[in-house]
Order: sequence, then structure tokens, then C-alpha cells
Amino acid sequence: MDTQKTYLVFGATGHTGQHFTSLALQNGHRVKALARTPGKLTSRNPNLEVHHGTITDPPDLDPLLDGVDAVVSMLGDAQLQQTSPINTAFIRKLIPAMRRTGVTRFLYQAGGLSAAPGTRLSPALWTVRNTIARSYIGQHQDNEAVMRYLTDDAMDIEWMVHRAGIGSDGPSKGVLERSHKRMSIATFLDCASYNYRLLSDPTAIHTCDPSAYQN
Ligand SMILES: NC(=O)c1ccc[n+]([C@@H]2O[C@H](COP(=O)([O-])OP(=O)(O)OC[C@H]3O[C@@H](n4cnc5c(N)ncnc54)[C@H](OP(=O)(O)O)[C@@H]3O)[C@@H](O)[C@H]2O)c1
Repeated sequence: MDTQKTYLVFGATGHTGQHFTSLALQNGHRVKALARTPGKLTSRNPNLEVHHGTITDPPDLDPLLDGVDAVVSMLGDAQLQQTSPINTAFIRKLIPAMRRTGVTRFLYQAGGLSAAPGTRLSPALWTVRNTIARSYIGQHQDNEAVMRYLTDDAMDIEWMVHRAGIGSDGPSKGVLERSHKRMSIATFLDCASYNYRLLSDPTAIHTCDPSAYQN
């Protein structure tokens, strides 16, 4: 087992977050989760500590960050994000709390249809975003605002953004790796495993890359 770490997870009840939480616990780590529907987390692992709460009216974050090695966000509420950038508002509270408590590492999962700061999506991805994936535009705009905030105002934090491709349920399809050019339609399980590995990859700090399956 690696040295035991403590992860503070936001979105632990979601598609990616459930797998990430299981993986971290299976590897002997501790997980603290802030969940608005804690009942979705059925694990009785003593290393799992669940706090009931919402990011739209968050509790005092400083005690939650106590003893934490890294923070992981796999948050999303596509319907609410159509009108309100809830993730950006929350991350703007989280980063100062991380500074206050000396927690430096942060992984944020965005989407492959969210453009990294200073870049544009390819015409093909832009078309997908504005047609079949139109109902997620607010979520992508929110993710883009988070990436801009991290780039402009949080370079003192060891953040890393995973721009995951469209996700699907099901078993592993292989191992995802960071890619500048390619983006795979991956399973949530593989995205979670990629996030877990990315957290201990110093070369991923201050990157907003997508992931793709190894050839
Ligand atoms: N799904 C995809 O195909 C896909 C692909 C690429 C990237 N992404 C990106 O990856 C991120 C996570 O995606 P996902 O599909 O794994 O997530 P998801 O299944 O939609 O789950 C989102 C998580 O956020 C939590 N959440 C939402 N609003 C909250 C609030 N107010 N307070 C506390 N928790 C809240 C949800 O809690 P509840 O369980 O209570 O709802 C859930 O745990 C998103 O930013 C998305 O843009 C998704």
C-alpha cells in the first residue's frame, strides 16, 4: 500500500466520484466527502467520513480540510448550471480555504467539451457541444470559468484539471493517459482511476488536458 493519504472529495456520489471513492478506500486511503445525498454512499468502510451538505451553501470548509492531502472535485448539476455557475462560486470559496489550511493539491474534473483557457475547441467538438450536448452548455461554461480562475488567480495551488471525454457506465476499457491531442469516450471507472493516478503525477500540475486510452 502507498502511504495513507486523506482525500476530501466533492461529488463523491456521482458517476465518477463513486468509483474514485471506492478506489481510494480499496487502496487504504481515507476519504472525507461532502454530499447533499449521503445515502448514496453505502460503504461502511471506517476510512470513509461523510458530511451532509451542499456546495451552494457550503459549511465552514476549514475543519473539512483539516488533515487533508488533496482535494478532488467531480461536481456537476447540469440543470442548475444552465443558469448558475455553482462550481465557480464554490471553487472561489474552496481555494482561499485551502490556502488558509495549507492544503496545496487540487484535482478538478471538467469535460472535454469545455475549452481550456486561451484555446478553442476543434470545429467537430464545437458542433457536438452546440447540438447533441446542448443541454450541458451551462456546465461547460461553468467548467471554463473554473479553469480561468485557477489559471489567473490560483497558480500558488498545485491544481490539475482533467477534461474527461463523454462518460459511460460499465467495466474498464483500458488505461487512460494524459493527452494533448486525443480524447476518449471512457467509462466512469477508467476516469476515476485516471484521476487517482493523476493526483500523484507532478507533471500534471497546472495542466487542463483531456485523457485518451493508450494505443
Ligand atoms: N458525465 C459525463 O459524461 C462527463 C463527461 C466528461 C466530463 N464530465 C464532467 O465531470 C464532472 C463530474 O461528472 P459526473 O458525470 O461524474 O458527475 P455526476 O454523475 O453528474 O455527479 C455530480 C456530483 O456532484 C454532486 N453535486 C451536484 N450539486 C451538488 C451540490 N449542490 N452540493 C453537493 N454536491 C453536489 C452530485 O451529488 P448528487 O449525487 O446529490 O446529485 C454528484 O455527486 C462534471 O463537471 C462534468 O462536467 C462529465
